[in-house]
Amino acid sequence: MKIDFNGKKIFLTGGSRGIGKKIKDLFTELNAKVIAPERNELDLLSRENIDSYLKNNSILPDIFIHCAGINELSDITEINENILDKSFQVNCFSAISLLNNFIISMKEKGWGRIIFISSIYAIVSRERRIAYSSTKNALTGLAKTMALELAPYNILINSIAPGYVMTEMTKKNLSIKEINDIKNNIPTGKFQSAEDIASLAAFLCSDYNQSITGQLIAVDGGFTCR
Ligand SMILES: NC(=O)c1ccc[n+]([C@@H]2O[C@H](COP(=O)([O-])OP(=O)(O)OC[C@H]3O[C@@H](n4cnc5c(N)ncnc54)[C@H](OP(=O)(O)O)[C@@H]3O)[C@@H](O)[C@H]2O)c1
Repeated sequence: MKIDFNGKKIFLTGGSRGIGKKIKDLFTELNAKVIAPERNELDLLSRENIDSYLKNNSILPDIFIHCAGINELSDITEINENILDKSFQVNCFSAISLLNNFIISMKEKGWGRIIFISSIYAIVSRERRIAYSSTKNALTGLAKTMALELAPYNILINSIAPGYVMTEMTKKNLSIKEINDIKNNIPTGKFQSAEDIASLAAFLCSDYNQSITGQLIAVDGGFTCR
């Protein structure tokens, strides 16, 4: 099976590093035209910046992948509006603003594919992930509702829930001991690679996927089965 995105334009957030960089490389390799603005071109924390970016750039993508994300740790006694505002803005609201702009042309074309890079913390959670887990759960509701609204236009939307990928985000938030403990609890005995996530994204965005929509699919080596 060979996936070919020739003629397809993809708009990707979070393409500068980690999982997003792998998605960028794979879709480029599969002949997609990838638009992945760096933070200095498009800062997802700023609604004004998103508005002006959209005003100055006519994107009209066939595929939208929202991979950018932040994970600021706090428990329920530490959480504050600043952390919540930032987390929801980057992880969730920015995607809504972009989609609000992109959907019209997808509807006109009668084809579209949308992916949210969510997390297993939309399925289970972990202490001190109040903001992160809430935002990723919000994406699930958003994807389900949009799946219903957009299915008649051949626009499919799904979320991918990575388990543990060794990126800067993971290294920042987990100690070596926590990383080792987690590894011992992954049924397959290994962490996920960024390629694991990118290849599922490519499948879901391809014409091989005609019927999967509104789903949250874990790529976690069986971690959430326990
Ligand atoms: N790693 C894991 O184990 C794991 C597990 C589950 C889910 N995820 C999800 O996977 C996605 C990618 O995570 P990762 O591990 O690859 O993280 P990462 O290495 O920390 O990369 C985060 C990405 O988000 C971008 N970003 C953050 N804030 C931004 C802003 N204000 N404006 C524009 N871009 C911004 C970063 O851009 P800059 O380079 O400019 O900072 C970077 O490209 C996230 O949504 C994360 O929640 C990761």
